[in-house]
Amino acid sequence: MNKPMKAKDKIVFALDVNTIDEVKILVKELKDYVGTFKIGLQLVTSVGPDAIKVIQDEGGKIFFDGKFHDIPNTVAKASSNLVKHGVTFFNVHLQGGSKMIASAVKEARDVARKNELEKPVILGTSLLSSFGQRTLTEELCVSKNIDEYTTKLIELAKFSGLDGIVSPANDTPKIKKMCGEDFIVMCPAIRPTWSVVNDQIRVVTPTDAVKAGVDYMVIGRPISMAKDRVSAAKLILDEIEEAMENASELMI
Ligand code: C5P
Repeated sequence: MNKPMKAKDKIVFALDVNTIDEVKILVKELKDYVGTFKIGLQLVTSVGPDAIKVIQDEGGKIFFDGKFHDIPNTVAKASSNLVKHGVTFFNVHLQGGSKMIASAVKEARDVARKNELEKPVILGTSLLSSFGQRTLTEELCVSKNIDEYTTKLIELAKFSGLDGIVSPANDTPKIKKMCGEDFIVMCPAIRPTWSVVNDQIRVVTPTDAVKAGVDYMVIGRPISMAKDRVSAAKLILDEIEEAMENASELMI
């Protein structure tokens, strides 16, 4: 079961840095308060896969946010390499289509089984938040409106064998309705009321994310830019814990 049971496990901290020294400091400091560390193109293009080792040595889980989008064979091989590195979560672009997604899923699961490694959690990335209706219609010639288009991508995620989706928090109830409660939803743009919004557009508090049914929350700058990172992480943890308790009381 891949569902996070504790508040700590719900937090995916975005390691948006450039050096291995910064990775070491942040992972050591935050490993008791966040369950997973997200690494992406910024870090991997500067330090390579060494970042993975640093996180693993401290006992942290890894989400590789590489948003794969290429021909099926290339994506399958890259997925297999990630699994061999011991990455727990990774994602592929839903716009890569069902053949690409299915080959990534098959290859990643086969490699995990053959090497007796933990089964990877493979997520589909929905339409990027940097896309608006104009880009979709005028640049990609998609005549559907954004809502219909993302609904189609959610359907694709469901039928391509993925474990879940990376999506804005507001779409969580729709995703759970369409794909079932066990389908994982991971959301960025999470902002506690006390933090700065930065460049995110539609932000959601940790409390509202829990209420919406979000499983994992990607959180970066509210922690990394705080004067005291550990206190910021603890505040978020407490907020999630309280929201989870309230949500479970409502279900009784
Ligand atoms: O919390 P903060 O805004 O700093 O974290 C943003 C992280 O979430 C970044 O690593 C960014 O790449 C990722 N992300 C996002 N919006 C998306 C998908 C991922 O901000 N739609």
